[in-house]
Amino acid sequence: MRLDKYLADCGLGSRSQVKGLLKQKRVTVNGQTETSPKRVIDESQTKVALDGEPLVYEKYLYYLLNKPKGVVSATEDKRFKTVLDLLDERARQKEVFPVGRLDIDTHGLLLLTNNGQLAHAMLSPKKHVAKIYLAQVSGLMDDSDSAYFAKGIELEDFTCQPAHLEILERDEAEQCSLVKITISEGKFHQIKRMVKACGKEVVDLQRLSMGPLQLDGQLQRGEFRRLMPEEREALEIFGVEL
Ligand code: URA
Repeated sequence: MRLDKYLADCGLGSRSQVKGLLKQKRVTVNGQTETSPKRVIDESQTKVALDGEPLVYEKYLYYLLNKPKGVVSATEDKRFKTVLDLLDERARQKEVFPVGRLDIDTHGLLLLTNNGQLAHAMLSPKKHVAKIYLAQVSGLMDDSDSAYFAKGIELEDFTCQPAHLEILERDEAEQCSLVKITISEGKFHQIKRMVKACGKEVVDLQRLSMGPLQLDGQLQRGEFRRLMPEEREALEIFGVEL
C-alpha cells in the first residue's frame, strides 16, 4: 500500500494533509526518514513512525455502543440523529456502520464496524447468532408464553424459530412483567411482535448481548468504546479476517 494511504488510514488526516507530514520529514519507514507519499509499504511488516512514535495500522475498527432511545441504527438519516453521530470522527472517516438494527425506541448493545465480512457473518441466518433482550412488558407473562416461545411463535408472515423466554419478575398489582428473551434471528420488530402474539405489549426493550459480545454496564446510554482485545478475539468464531 502507498505510504500516504497508510498514514491517512492511521487517522493522521486526509491524503493531502499527510503529504504535509512527509514534507516536514516527520515520518520514518524502518527507521529512515521518508518524504515520498508514493513509497510502497507492507502494512503488516513495515515499521512506520511519526515523530519517532510507532504507528499501529488498523484496517478494521470495532465500536461497542450503548445505543440510546431516539437515534436510528443507520449511517445517515434526514429526520433523526443516527448512531454514527454518536461515535468519533475516526469512525465516520473509516466508514463504520451498525451490524444490524435496533428500533429507534430500543436501547442497548450495538456493534459498529467497517468489517463487512464480519457483519455479514454475524447477521447470516445460517449462523444462528443468539441475541438476548431484556423487555418490560405490559401484561403478565406466564409459563404458557414460555412454552409458546419454545415451540416457535406464529406471526402473520412467518413462524419464528424456537426462542427462550425467561420470566424475571411479575407484578400482579401493576399487571406488568420483566422478561429476558433469547432469539437467534432478527426479523423486523421481532421481539415486540412475539410478545404481542402472546397478547401483551413491550413497553421497554434493551439488548443485552449479541453472540459473544455483552453490553458493558460501565457505558451510559449514548456512550461507546472500542472493543477490547479479548472481545475482538471472541469474534474469531465467525471465521473471517478481523
Ligand atoms: N426486536 C424488536 O422488536 N425491536 C428491536 O429493536 C430488536 C428486536
